[in-house]
Amino acid sequence: MSTELAAVAKAMVAPGKGILAADESTGTANKRFAPLNIPQTEDMRRAYRDMLFTLPDFGTFFSGVILYDETIRQQGLQSTSFVQVLQGAHSFPGIKLDTGAHPLALANDNEKITEGLDGLAARVDEYVKMGAKFAKWRAVITIDERNGLPSDDCLHANAHALARYAAICQAGGLVPIVEPEVISDGDLATQSMETSFAVHERALLAVFEELAIANVRLEDMVLKPSMVVPGQKSGRSAPVRDVAEATVTVLMRRVPAAVAGIAFLSGGQSDEDATAHLNEINKVAAERNVPWPLTFSYGRALQHAALNIWKGDAANVTAAQAAMHHRAKMNSLAAQGKWSPDLENEKELALSR
Ligand code: 13P
Repeated sequence: MSTELAAVAKAMVAPGKGILAADESTGTANKRFAPLNIPQTEDMRRAYRDMLFTLPDFGTFFSGVILYDETIRQQGLQSTSFVQVLQGAHSFPGIKLDTGAHPLALANDNEKITEGLDGLAARVDEYVKMGAKFAKWRAVITIDERNGLPSDDCLHANAHALARYAAICQAGGLVPIVEPEVISDGDLATQSMETSFAVHERALLAVFEELAIANVRLEDMVLKPSMVVPGQKSGRSAPVRDVAEATVTVLMRRVPAAVAGIAFLSGGQSDEDATAHLNEINKVAAERNVPWPLTFSYGRALQHAALNIWKGDAANVTAAQAAMHHRAKMNSLAAQGKWSPDLENEKELALSR
């Protein structure tokens, strides 16, 4: 089992490839549709995911896609299941396994614990039978310096849940994506770069300690961290180079070399910031000889442009896919440290339709 999972994990972070996060729960998908007046129905969510997954050259850019329970059970618009659509594009179907972040008992109201461990082994079995090859679980770490957040309680409870989840995945035949997200958007996010760095360091320390205690095989997993950026409400911005250096430094301090790869979340960054940061991170990583591939597993920063063009209208699919293709290509280049801002102006997109 181990060599099989290690091969999947390695393929997930192959050069120039990243992972598309399209695992928005029904509530989150509806929230994204609402401002565009897209009907919040199962059929529209299906049509939207069909637009994403039938992107020309999909498998060139995306080694895998994280799906939500509704989506992994759905047919695409051509009456083949989405699992088959992705398999046909040589992209692994993956599944979100957590059931969301809930209040952490006896803690500050803004601290959350991610749930979903009860009955997880049986759910893993079911998804493996459906064709899933990997999974995701997201822990939410909120910074609020005035109230001493994150607490050790929050960091340890979430690290423990991530480790239990990762062990259950590996025992059942899925590669776990371990995602401790240090939140940098939202009203509380006033942290400096220094605070972000310090919290990442504490969070990663807690996660890898729990993973070790739970016997999780690091070769058979992918880490999905946030980047070290100032909080969006801090009133500060950081040079791209500083973000890259801080992010690589904290990862080198706290992530063992055996981990198969690292795929970042975008966390509310603009599309272009997420690309520029990943590109610079790869440049710093090359200078410092880091042991792991560093790529993207973005949700919003990959979908945002396409969703805003699509707007729920089948007539917009080609234009929406052109926008998605562009972002996918930019991030693929950034994952190799080969992106530059002038490439953003590339308007002629070779859509082979
Ligand atoms: P964003 O890139 O939009 O942060 O989403 C990635 C993800 O999977 C969050 O769990």
